[in-house]
Amino acid sequence: MVSRSIAAVLLIGICNVSPAAAQTAASASVPSPLPLGVSPELYGIAVPPDRVPAPDAAALGARLFRDKRLSADNTVSCDTCHDVDKGFTDHRPDSATSGGVGGAHGTRNAPTVLNALFQASQFWDGRAATLEDQAKLPILNPVEMGQKTPEDVVAKLRTLPEYAQDFQRIYGHPTTYDDLASAIAAFERTQYSGNSPFDRFMAGNASAIDDNAKRGWALFNGKARCSDCHAFNSVSPLFSDQKFHNIGIAAHKQNFTDLARKAIGIVQSADTKQIDELALQTDYSELGRFLVTKKDDDIGAFKTETLRNIGVTGPYMHDGSLTTLWDVIDHYNKGGVPNPYLDGGMQRLGLSENEIDDLVAFLFTLTDDRFGAFGKEEMARQTALKNTRPQRETDVAEGRKGDLGDLAPNPDLKNPALLGAY
Ligand code: HEC
Ligand code: HEC
Repeated sequence: MVSRSIAAVLLIGICNVSPAAAQTAASASVPSPLPLGVSPELYGIAVPPDRVPAPDAAALGARLFRDKRLSADNTVSCDTCHDVDKGFTDHRPDSATSGGVGGAHGTRNAPTVLNALFQASQFWDGRAATLEDQAKLPILNPVEMGQKTPEDVVAKLRTLPEYAQDFQRIYGHPTTYDDLASAIAAFERTQYSGNSPFDRFMAGNASAIDDNAKRGWALFNGKARCSDCHAFNSVSPLFSDQKFHNIGIAAHKQNFTDLARKAIGIVQSADTKQIDELALQTDYSELGRFLVTKKDDDIGAFKTETLRNIGVTGPYMHDGSLTTLWDVIDHYNKGGVPNPYLDGGMQRLGLSENEIDDLVAFLFTLTDDRFGAFGKEEMARQTALKNTRPQRETDVAEGRKGDLGDLAPNPDLKNPALLGAY
């Protein structure tokens, strides 16, 4: 819905104003040139004129993003979990989910901040509407940056002369918590990312990606069905429909269905604050979008993440449970993990080993050149793990085993019993 409504807004916008006026409005706010593959139309919609980042605010935000003094004990910055040099995700080796102050660990894996400015909502469950709303939360979260109140943060910032002066100059008054969020969001609105081999291929350079990756791109849109959810087009080139789906990751947890049953009762009668507390609890975190909407359909549903820079943003999924892109494809190949809320778009794919390799090759072409060297390192690291495949279930993927109730990828038409469930 969201991506469609973005398109609709765009069309209405274009129809209602004269082309000349549209061009003036666009050129006033859209940076030029944008990197190859970044959509000026989407930028125009995602960044309204009053949110266009002023260079001095963005520079201030960049410093704040890396400053550990924003945390309660001066040990954690945004950059700790969203490493600016490594695709803006958490590459610390100790855990698949992110650790914050005092060694505390949250339940979720840090997504990249690259292109977050274009998203319809923030967080795996979409519980923050804007980058400003989002930025205020980790600073106060006890397992992230651990500050007690916004007032504590502001008081600390006001004692640091280099910040106090800049806030005064840019915002015209002493630092507030809103200004802090505004500066960080200004920085994040400069973190659009394109310029990948795939973008050069789409721009007409046929040799920008190799034949394996080209076959992978075809599979992505065809047999592998990835584009059903990881939608890509020139106006919205994020590889995400911006919707929420249960693809069965939460169902890895043994008690998932019990939890869901229990939560339906609890959540219906809970107030906003109680819901928030539920969301922070390890187990209830797995219910995903349901905690925000309270709709049964959303149990275990998480946001379709962008696939841009996916080669450098592992581990994968909301809980970081999949280590390599081979694990990711193995998960999809067997149709996900069965559970009562599994998205209808999840079906066994029957991909061969060569086809899996082609899809992985394609995904590695989505890395921005600015992370080129790190991308090569990550590809080598993942390739070395290629034979460790905890998610691989070839018999299920190819339809010889399993009870998903779907149509096997290569059904034996002579034996009707072999159509669908076994
Ligand atoms: C302790 C690790 C940690 C710190 C520190 C941290 N984050 Fe995050 N960040 C995460 C995790 C984990 C998520 C996903 C949480 C969820 O979806 O419930 C996230 C999500 C986000 C998102 C949403 C991205 C998306 O695709 O939905 C943005 C934007 C973001 N963080 C920016 C920031 C900023 C700005 C700061 C500093 C003020 C910050 N983060 C500090 C771990 C961290
Ligand atoms: C039914 C919708 C749907 C389909 C089909 C789908 N995906 Fe996803 N994808 C998602 C959702 C939702 C998530 C996040 C799920 C979670 O964390 O629980 C996701 C996550 C991912 C991630 C991890 C993102 C990250 O930052 O951790 C990768 C990689 C991925 N998908 C690749 C693919 C590929 C390749 C295909 C085709 C084989 C595919 N997806 C098919 C919806 C889908």
